[in-house]
Amino acid sequence: MAPTQPTETTHDLPWWKTAVVYQVYPRSFADADGDGVGDLPGILSKVDHIADLGVDCVWMSPFYESPMRDNGYDVSDHCAIDPVFGTLEDFDALVEALHERGIRLIVDFVPNHVSSDHPWFVEAVSDPDSERRDWFIWADPAPGGGPPFNWTASFTEESAWELDEASGQYYLHLFLPEQPDLNWSNPAVEAAQHDVLRFWLDRGVDGFRIDVINAIGKDPEPRDVPERMEGIAHVVLTHHETAMPLIRRIRALVDPPEVERLVVGEVVTGDLEQQASYCGDGDGVSCTVNFVSIGTKWDRDQWHLLIAGMEDAYADHDATWPSYVLSNHDNPRQRTRYGGSEARARSAAVLLLTVRGTPSLYQGEELGLEDAVIPAGTEVDPGGRDGCRAPIPWTIEAPHGWGEDTWLPFPPDAGARSVEAQRADSTSVLALYKQLLAARKASPALQQGSLELLARTDDVLAYRRIHGDDERIVAVNFGDAPADVTDLAGTVVVASNGLGAGRPFSGRLGPDEAVVLQP
Ligand code: GLC
Repeated sequence: MAPTQPTETTHDLPWWKTAVVYQVYPRSFADADGDGVGDLPGILSKVDHIADLGVDCVWMSPFYESPMRDNGYDVSDHCAIDPVFGTLEDFDALVEALHERGIRLIVDFVPNHVSSDHPWFVEAVSDPDSERRDWFIWADPAPGGGPPFNWTASFTEESAWELDEASGQYYLHLFLPEQPDLNWSNPAVEAAQHDVLRFWLDRGVDGFRIDVINAIGKDPEPRDVPERMEGIAHVVLTHHETAMPLIRRIRALVDPPEVERLVVGEVVTGDLEQQASYCGDGDGVSCTVNFVSIGTKWDRDQWHLLIAGMEDAYADHDATWPSYVLSNHDNPRQRTRYGGSEARARSAAVLLLTVRGTPSLYQGEELGLEDAVIPAGTEVDPGGRDGCRAPIPWTIEAPHGWGEDTWLPFPPDAGARSVEAQRADSTSVLALYKQLLAARKASPALQQGSLELLARTDDVLAYRRIHGDDERIVAVNFGDAPADVTDLAGTVVVASNGLGAGRPFSGRLGPDEAVVLQP
């Protein structure tokens, strides 16, 4: 593989560029009231875990009032906390506790759809003449009857158009029928959603992660899609040019010049250029959720291609840069995807936290957790994503700091992988994450330096990061045999096996091992 050209960062950095983001999924983080479901007081009780880890920003998944058909991504009141999670006072206390520790908080904003229980939709259905009717997307049946277009929805793979029997019209839902899509071409919808953003800004949040942002601009002339595109209709028919003006106005509202806030866009695409295009000229989203990194296999060439592709795609975007993510609440955890090996999970951590860009960790990744096994018939999520949403084990003894009856089972080896067990072990996965985060904070090269992929012919991916006088070399052995890399020399800053820091590098990497060197 050929090396890439180094890309130098020359501008002053907004805080989020040197930040590491940590995703909290409230249902599964920590349970203060012992009902087996995580809650805001639970998160508050664990802020020191987040602070000790050394991350800079928490992204919290939805905690708003919801009938929970899509675990909170179906919001029935944008400005209320669902009672299962607590109260607005609990939220305020959490903001304060995080800010006291120098940690920022961004929250999920779900603009594309609401719950069918939301008063906006209830009114739109019950009174077709009301102003709310046009807040949603309606169409008459196809000429021969049935759904107006052949689009299928996510999760069900059935029609994305649901009949409202009373009026005889169909409404659009790209996800569940209980998640009707909002009509962002109606300025009243945009204004109402801006009010939601202001509500949370006034409560002190530092920005938003915006759910399926590519879907808010829709083609105003809907049409059938070719058969082979069914099931991904929403990916094909969204990404419409009408999205960008809406996104620019969100960015201007959330991140005006006098403050610095973060707007992360969940852009559902496998196309790196398209991903980067949502950042506009620094006036779109600040950065995106990287759907390609989360799908990249444990394979040296694939990672080389991804990093080179990201460097290319973002080369002309001065105000933004790459972002990387390996695990979240929608996908199997990295350790599970990479085959379950702890050595790989550790090396993946080295990769995620040393490549150029803003990394995002998912709760429990720092413990090397795998997905839970969900017994057949007990599934909760319509999208089959329960495994990665299992509760975090805090203590060695069951029920691991939770009420007896948790909403999902724990991941494998919960006691041994609990926070309590790993805190006591200086070679644990948790200890490795802390070392990596500290090494990143201490090194301008790792935080913001240029990245140059080094040409190699073996199973090792290696890159050099440079900022001013500061330099680091990272080498990751993707192979299942030891690799001799005597051409790479320096002092070990962090090794994925947790050993040897401060000593000269031996020149050899074990299978699935990685190392950060200071030349
Ligand atoms: C996003 C969320 C996912 C949710 C979907 C619909 O992809 O991450 O959890 O189900 O949007 O809101």
